[in-house]
Amino acid sequence: MFGVRGLLRTLRRCSSAPCPKRAPAARLKVREALEARELPGADVKVQGWVRSVRSQKEVLFLHLNDGSSLESLQVVADPSLEYRDLTFGSAVEVQGKLLKSLHQKQNVELKAENIRVVGPCDALMFPFKLREKHPLEYTRQFPHLRCRTNTLRSLLRVRSEATAAIHSFFQTANKVKEHEGESHFFKVPAFLTVSGQLHLEVMAGAFTQVFTFGPTFRAENSQSRRHLAEFYMVEAEVSFTESLQDIMQVIEDLFKTATSTVLSRCPHEVEFFYKYIAPAQKGRLERMLKNKFLTLSYTEAVEILKRAPQTFTFKPEWGQDLQTEHEKYLVTHCGEVPVFVIDYPYDLKPFYMRDNDDGPQHTVAAVDLLVPEVGELCGGSLREERLHFLQSRLQRLGLSDTYQWYLDLRKFGSVPHGGFGMGFERYLQCILGVSNIKDVMPFPRFPHSCLL
Ligand code: 4AD
Ligand code: MG
Repeated sequence: MFGVRGLLRTLRRCSSAPCPKRAPAARLKVREALEARELPGADVKVQGWVRSVRSQKEVLFLHLNDGSSLESLQVVADPSLEYRDLTFGSAVEVQGKLLKSLHQKQNVELKAENIRVVGPCDALMFPFKLREKHPLEYTRQFPHLRCRTNTLRSLLRVRSEATAAIHSFFQTANKVKEHEGESHFFKVPAFLTVSGQLHLEVMAGAFTQVFTFGPTFRAENSQSRRHLAEFYMVEAEVSFTESLQDIMQVIEDLFKTATSTVLSRCPHEVEFFYKYIAPAQKGRLERMLKNKFLTLSYTEAVEILKRAPQTFTFKPEWGQDLQTEHEKYLVTHCGEVPVFVIDYPYDLKPFYMRDNDDGPQHTVAAVDLLVPEVGELCGGSLREERLHFLQSRLQRLGLSDTYQWYLDLRKFGSVPHGGFGMGFERYLQCILGVSNIKDVMPFPRFPHSCLL
């Protein structure tokens, strides 16, 4: 495929040498055409899907999009080029000349000489209509077609940039990525991972900083706005650290660095969400990026909840899990800034979390990051690196045999370490202000629903 540079080369070749045959029109993406400021009169071909058709007496206007940019390319044509098949949603190939547009809103337009409908689209049957704003719940019914909407197209671009930004954050910090394992288990039950943490801990015994970013599966029987049965999780593990603060600093740096990158890499797509989906989110996110994240101990958090003027469905009690309603209250109480809640009760948390020094089996060095609107975004901890602590806990739980290999990690060169996991879809909800997690995943799977 030609880029703008390729097109310039083609044009130059044609002007300096005799051209007995007409050179084929250079193929441009919509974004390249929109950015081609110095190409008046260039002969080009653009392919994409029709976003709008408007026929006037003397001129036919089309808007063409191929996903390379949120903005569509305006095509102007002679009304005689209009066919019955040229409808909203149809796939077309337009060949013509790029001209400077007289309209203020766009820089260039394509004056069509030929329009070919590659794939017609029955506008009556197509679930999306020209100039109609479709609610997200409606588009969700069509996972196979909703990528054609501006919302999903914007979302997918943000997802892609956010994925790259997260990889780049860890790679520039020189962390090693865990190798993803094969999971072909013919005729044998397959165990899908609920977290890559234990494998990361294995690798943290050889590399001091490791991360992984991949699909995660949970038999979560929940239809909530923040749970999926399959979601993506970013996880990191840091060796030679005795401080939960170190882990919290990585979480805060990851959030702020990745988000700033996304905002600079796809500003139009992010703005689209603030304009049409979540107008209040822009200010909220600016506050999150500008302020230092706060920290509360679990004990302080429960005290705050107990003093709250409102009544909760679940009465806050030391030793009980924090519910979504509690998490939301705490974030609001803290001024809509992300809050780390640390040092949870020992009995609430998994066996691998490190027992704190505030009394035996009282609290563990756990951390959850709570963010506005979403609630829990990250969960992590220092890991119990002391063999005898871990051995007795596993024994009490009757898990010693299963986790012999995990105990081995504590026998051979064990170091203090810790890590965390961040739900990628919840992260996207948080930066874009999307209230339902099913709208930030192209093919969401949740109980009784696996449409695609
Ligand atoms: O808090 P969780 O369960 O932590 C772990 O799995 C740790 N082993 C991670 C680690 O320390 N390496 O999950 C981490 C995050 C949650 O904070 C949440 O954002 C997200 O993963 N998450 C979900 N996202 C969507 N749907 C679900 N069902 C989720 N369950 C967890
Ligand atoms: Mg958690």
